[in-house]
Amino acid sequence: MAITPLGNCEANAPYQLGFSATHQEGEFNALPIQGKIPRWLRGSLIRTGPGTLEVGKQSYHHWFDGLAMLRKFSFAHGQVSFANRFLESQAYQEAKAKGKISRGEFGTTARHSLLERLTDPLPRLTDNATVNITMQGDRFVSVTESPFPIIFDPETLNTIEQFHYRDRVPGQITTAHPHFDYQENAVYSYLVNLIPGCSYSIYRMDAHSDQRQLIASIPVQQPAYMHTFGMTEHYIILAEFPLLLNRLSLALSGKPYIENYQWKPEQGTRFLVISKESGKVVHSAKSEAFFAFHHVNAFEQDGEVMVDLIAYSDSSVIQSLYLEPLLHHPEQVIAAGELRRYCIPLSEAIAHYEVLTTEVIELPRINYQRCNTHRYQFVFGVGSSKPGNFIDQIVKVDVQNGTTQMWRSPDCYPGEPVFAAAPDAKSEDEGVILSVVLNAQTQNSFLLVLDGQSWNELARVQLPYHLTFDFHGQYFDAMASTQRTQLHR
Ligand SMILES: [Fe+2]
Repeated sequence: MAITPLGNCEANAPYQLGFSATHQEGEFNALPIQGKIPRWLRGSLIRTGPGTLEVGKQSYHHWFDGLAMLRKFSFAHGQVSFANRFLESQAYQEAKAKGKISRGEFGTTARHSLLERLTDPLPRLTDNATVNITMQGDRFVSVTESPFPIIFDPETLNTIEQFHYRDRVPGQITTAHPHFDYQENAVYSYLVNLIPGCSYSIYRMDAHSDQRQLIASIPVQQPAYMHTFGMTEHYIILAEFPLLLNRLSLALSGKPYIENYQWKPEQGTRFLVISKESGKVVHSAKSEAFFAFHHVNAFEQDGEVMVDLIAYSDSSVIQSLYLEPLLHHPEQVIAAGELRRYCIPLSEAIAHYEVLTTEVIELPRINYQRCNTHRYQFVFGVGSSKPGNFIDQIVKVDVQNGTTQMWRSPDCYPGEPVFAAAPDAKSEDEGVILSVVLNAQTQNSFLLVLDGQSWNELARVQLPYHLTFDFHGQYFDAMASTQRTQLHR
């Protein structure tokens, strides 16, 4: 398969290298380090995201479409090793064999010849698991929004096989951001079922199991596009933004997946609060229309449910992350939103919000193991210092007092900041932030290690080439053996 940069168009964005293909797959021991890696950091950061946005002479159209590549940074004795490999999904193998895009993705359709349509008339869902890393049962998987996790070997990054659930929970669309309940040692997530009528299937799965238990099936006329959901101690929260699926269009239009959803702001956003114990929708509340990709955290307080998320006034952020604006109209790109706290009183039908910081933010992370479902203090994310500069800073927000700390460096474009807690940490932010950064000046990527508390730069670990901008990853602590069997958001 030809893996090349997007060379057929005249790109003019300063960060354009981040949307071109990663030049090679490789393994490197003891990478050059400027600064010092804390000796306590022993484990691996494993991430996924596109490794190329082209196949042969065809280009994918949206950032979310590219063929998945796994990346792993391993830490031991103050040294760092690195490996990256394409995820060998069916979508990847077919693309490689045919030299063209084989399966439709989020914002791209696959064009099939008449012969292909006659021999294989039903379009196959993609298994290109390019969004997040998690664990299913005891296996490491790369996941996307189709329900086909791909198992891989965390040592070699070799692709093993598709994960098969031992159950029949119905649904064709899911989220790549399941939640882990540390009290119950179980995963919660949902599927959207389109057949025969539409419903949300909320499920629970014990940590070591490969069998989901359906806890709620909620009928819905038109399912909303939801990338994530919220969870508190007792509730699952679905924020149904008015970006609604037209099923007929999905079946017949031939449009890319996401273009079969319609923005209907007059319907507002509806929060569904679902009991984890009974599966019942215990409350529903409305707010003005808004859109979000990422929930940040949620918790219960004095009979109210607090839902923190990254909000946009409408769904145009999806259009702005197509490659055309990203590469040719950087000034039009919206890549980060507003950190809001929605308050849902369980006795009222209206949800209100407050803005937690004036800084824009995306790809939010928290100290998940310590703070998920609880009142908390810190959000880590990426942000944008000015229009046209895509994502060019890392931000730490104290949600209790609205103060922020920033990391920025000339010509540098950071990815999702993953928090790794220090052993026996006493405070929520005691640990490090790990972020893969593109340096457009030196044309390579490096792993940035920031002190979570002081926000001082501890180290830069230099890679010999650049990595295509990715989405999400997890840190797996080698010292905490139980963590290997627990899912991290
Ligand atoms: Fe995401």
